[in-house]
Amino acid sequence: MRVTFDLLTSLSNDGRRVVADAIGDLDYPVGGVRTAAELIDVYTGRAPATSWSVLVDHALAGMFSIGQTDQYLGLQTSIFIAPRHRHRGVSHIINRAAITAARDVGVDLMAGVHVDNQASLGAHDSLFVSDCPRTISPSGKYVRMRISDGQLADGETDRRLAETIATQLAEIKSTWPEEVFRFHAWE
Ligand SMILES: CC(C)(COP(=O)(O)OP(=O)(O)OC[C@H]1O[C@@H](n2cnc3c(N)ncnc32)[C@H](O)[C@@H]1OP(=O)(O)O)[C@@H](O)C(=O)NCCC(=O)NCCS
Repeated sequence: MRVTFDLLTSLSNDGRRVVADAIGDLDYPVGGVRTAAELIDVYTGRAPATSWSVLVDHALAGMFSIGQTDQYLGLQTSIFIAPRHRHRGVSHIINRAAITAARDVGVDLMAGVHVDNQASLGAHDSLFVSDCPRTISPSGKYVRMRISDGQLADGETDRRLAETIATQLAEIKSTWPEEVFRFHAWE
């Protein structure tokens, strides 16, 4: 299985529509939005250099973005894998590459997950040998995991994917405020 990325900003409007149509409605709201079309707008608006469509063996399989949280409190991943491509290890390949890239570039990377999102919690838990550092939001609804500090379980890193992500992280590192690149616990 080969996972590759295309920057969403490199796609034409028609290309973005193809991605949105392939993914459709989001079964679990990501970042408060409900359709892939809306999510593409959020991703490209907030994080144009670090938002990608995900292809598995050249077939559209999802989207992945690394962006700032609302209050500039750190760099956070957002991942959506289309239902027919789930349970194949795609999220693990992407997150492992993203964590490797973050470490290579020297930035902290977080995941923010709703406490009821069993799929995402399960996918993050099984990526590490033990719980990575985490805090719970004041509302009790979200877990913030410092994934770049987690001890990864044994497994291969897709170096080519990690380099793709690292190149873009290095690019934004010089343009966004330094505090974006450091982990912030919920207070
Ligand atoms: C969460 C999500 C990204 C996982 O993607 P995925 O590619 O299917 O995950 P993987 O195949 O890499 O899963 C690896 C591990 O995660 C865990 N996992 C995956 N789906 C799970 C589920 N529904 N329930 C519990 N654990 C799950 C398992 O431990 C799995 O390992 P296994 O296959 O050996 O059992 C995907 O379900 C998704 O896109 N969900 C909707 C959007 C979303 O919630 N995004 C995250 C927002 S924070």
